[in-house]
Amino acid sequence: MLSYRHAFHAGNFADVLKHTILIRLIGSLAGKEAPFFYLDTHAGAGLYDLEDTRASRLREWREGVGRLWDASAVPAPLSGYLRLVREAQTDPAASRPRRYPGSPWLVRRLLRPGDRMVLCELHPADHPALRERFAGDRQVAVHHRDGYEALRAFLPPAERRGLVLLDPAYEFPGEWERAAEGLVTAWRRWPTGGLALWYPLLAHGAEARLHRSVEEAGLRKVLRVELRVRPADSPAGMNGSGLLLVNPPWRLDEELAQWLPWLRRQLAPQGQGGESVDWLVPE
Ligand SMILES: C[S@@+](CC[C@H](N)C(=O)[O-])C[C@H]1O[C@@H](n2cnc3c(N)ncnc32)[C@H](O)[C@@H]1O
Repeated sequence: MLSYRHAFHAGNFADVLKHTILIRLIGSLAGKEAPFFYLDTHAGAGLYDLEDTRASRLREWREGVGRLWDASAVPAPLSGYLRLVREAQTDPAASRPRRYPGSPWLVRRLLRPGDRMVLCELHPADHPALRERFAGDRQVAVHHRDGYEALRAFLPPAERRGLVLLDPAYEFPGEWERAAEGLVTAWRRWPTGGLALWYPLLAHGAEARLHRSVEEAGLRKVLRVELRVRPADSPAGMNGSGLLLVNPPWRLDEELAQWLPWLRRQLAPQGQGGESVDWLVPE
């Protein structure tokens, strides 16, 4: 039984980091003429209403995208992200976001005519919503199938260039191991592809095992990006989030080191938390 619904969390601080980096990675692919392929193994519903009962219950977006909405002197990759979030509003001049775009919506905005996107979502309510959103779109294939299993079905893609986003909800026992295995499977099937795995930073530090599995599996060129909005041992729940980026664009590490401190100051104005960018495994 899937119980996680991204609608409760849409636009939170973890989405801000994940989606800004996602857009940056897709922008890099779109910078070259050859078509690219995008696979979203855990796609969600695609677009979220921040006024509905689910998003309104926790209002996590207020500590996420809400903290950037009126910011000034926004660094370039974040202003590109905000521009797309504004494009998702019915009223682009709104004083606060009322809708929040998920990864499929954001990436769809950046596809060129020859590019292709495959989305997997298992939830019985979110999958139909996603399918409906992209109905009739010939560049988008929506599947009601297990995202980990999809890695074997769709990789390597004919385009030979592109990105896989693995964005699990980590709601089942053993899902950390499954996520690590998923990343390793994707890399084995497509060692030159761009891969991004998102993970939460929780007080028990489960990410250490994930990192070790990736190192031991022999992956190369794995950039680790983490941002915390609370101290690492805070029992509050998710204290931050991270991404492992395999085969990231050249010098992304230097670029991230420039704007992550700004983002952390926005998301954690009380001065807690921290950010880091390092090579879990170098080239
Ligand atoms: C964190 S949300 C995805 C958010 C989305 N990637 C975004 O950034 O907007 C995780 C989603 O994965 C779905 N899910 C959980 N297990 C899955 C699986 N094995 N295969 C495909 N989807 C799954 C959940 O229903 C949920 O909608």
